[in-house]
Amino acid sequence: MWLFNSSIGRKVVMSVTGISLILFMTFHGCMNVVALFSAKGYNMICEFLGANWYAVAATLALAALAVIHIVYAFILTIQNRKARGNNRYDVTDKPAKVEWASQNMLVLGIIILLGLLLHLYNFWYNMMFAEIVGMEGLAHSPADGFGWIAETFSNPVFVCLYIVWIIALWFHLTHGFWSAIQTIGWSGHLWFNRWRIIGIIYVTLLCLMFLAVILGFAFGCAPSLCCGCGADCTCGQGDLCECAKECAKAVGGCCGK
Ligand code: HEM
Repeated sequence: MWLFNSSIGRKVVMSVTGISLILFMTFHGCMNVVALFSAKGYNMICEFLGANWYAVAATLALAALAVIHIVYAFILTIQNRKARGNNRYDVTDKPAKVEWASQNMLVLGIIILLGLLLHLYNFWYNMMFAEIVGMEGLAHSPADGFGWIAETFSNPVFVCLYIVWIIALWFHLTHGFWSAIQTIGWSGHLWFNRWRIIGIIYVTLLCLMFLAVILGFAFGCAPSLCCGCGADCTCGQGDLCECAKECAKAVGGCCGK
């Protein structure tokens, strides 16, 4: 079939899987923003997703999308390098920024993959996987997504690694977005620059959502950690939380464990 055999077919597969992954990230980013404002609200979402059949099915579909995207990235890169030999680009006077991201999509993709593996260990392993296999003795319950976020981003090493990850994602996605639109054929002469600007704005907002959560928890300034009102204490003892600083220190929600 042309989707698998031709180079344009493979590019279409890369584009469709890439756009689907961006849509997943949009949902995931919006979901995570809830953690900035409400521990209870965030854990309600985590509980709803949990290890229910629909969440497991969605995870498998997502994994398939990611694997196809990555495998095709390698196939296309090898194919392009073979076709071009050592002289990979004839024209080298394009704008430096575009050139850098587009020439380094594979390297950026590998950084993103490593970040994703760390992320899946931090969250998916401790949550969905722990629930499926009935793992015991963890620092937080598998449905306590808020606790896992507070725990992960109380570690400055993880904070730095996640920031590098998000920056790599920004470069990868700003290029990937309009490249995908162009492959699919939505980008005419007039819309070429428009899609690039729309892509940059969209991806920047997406990355800022993730960064806000990382930094909000790292510096203890997420409103959900400032629980003077006690409204969001997962343990129901809001009065234990005296100030934002104390709350931020108490890993596992504003009231600690
Ligand atoms: C602030 C940053 C982030 C936080 C706090 C966060 C939080 C989480 C949590 C709590 C889960 C577990 C959900 C569950 O199993 O119920 C999860 C899973 C996951 N996250 Fe993130 N995430 C962040 C950034 C990202 C980014 C940038 C990506 C994409 C590149 C991503 C991709 C995933 C994937 C693929 C899963 C597994 C989803 C599944 O099990 O279906 N996350 N994340």
